[in-house]
Amino acid sequence: MERTTIDAIDGYVEHLFDLDADQDLSACLAAQRAAGLPEIQVSAVQGRFLTVLAQAVGARRILEIGSLGGYSTVCLARALPEDGRLVSLELQEDRAALTRASLDRVGRGARCEVRAGRAAVSLKALAEEGAEPFDLAFIDADKASYPQYLAAVRGLMRPGGLIIADNVLRRAVLDAPLPADPDQAGIRDFNASLPGFGERATILPLAGRKGLDGMALIVA
Ligand code: DHB
Ligand code: MG
Repeated sequence: MERTTIDAIDGYVEHLFDLDADQDLSACLAAQRAAGLPEIQVSAVQGRFLTVLAQAVGARRILEIGSLGGYSTVCLARALPEDGRLVSLELQEDRAALTRASLDRVGRGARCEVRAGRAAVSLKALAEEGAEPFDLAFIDADKASYPQYLAAVRGLMRPGGLIIADNVLRRAVLDAPLPADPDQAGIRDFNASLPGFGERATILPLAGRKGLDGMALIVA
């Protein structure tokens, strides 16, 4: 498919829902840009997809792995009821701080906790703390660790909760195979585990302003 066609369909949806006029998300993007972060956050349309999915599963507790500057975090936090809680894990402290600022800006700071540091360590800590099970998890951090993240997240979910993982197609299918690329290997191993979930897992191919990619959906 031509790039212009992909941009057109993404732009159509963005326009239809007035997503480009969303002040909160614009402010989040501006802060991210000012901090020099790479523009690899979910697209506006994908962000709305996350908001809708979180509402669909009635998510009271949301876990995010990889917040970047908080764009997807805001999209997920928007779906939280007043007594809801979101925990987001982010490797870098400066990015965690940006994410907290974005959540505060949209009035969701009090419902959210952003933990800086290695996600593998934070996930272990959550398990040790006996964290209340999560209803929805969004995996969007380093791709090499996706299999480990999935294993850890599974132990933190309520049965029937929804696990979503970003970027599961491009590196696996579209990027040229690279010898010993840990990101590619991580995604391939992650995807290879999905058929083991039977009818509780799928991959949704996505086309939009981030090009061609896909999100995995798994019912825990
Ligand atoms: C890229 C995109 C992503 O959504 C992500 O999580 C990491 C990297 C990228 O385009 O490089
Ligand atoms: Mg991503």
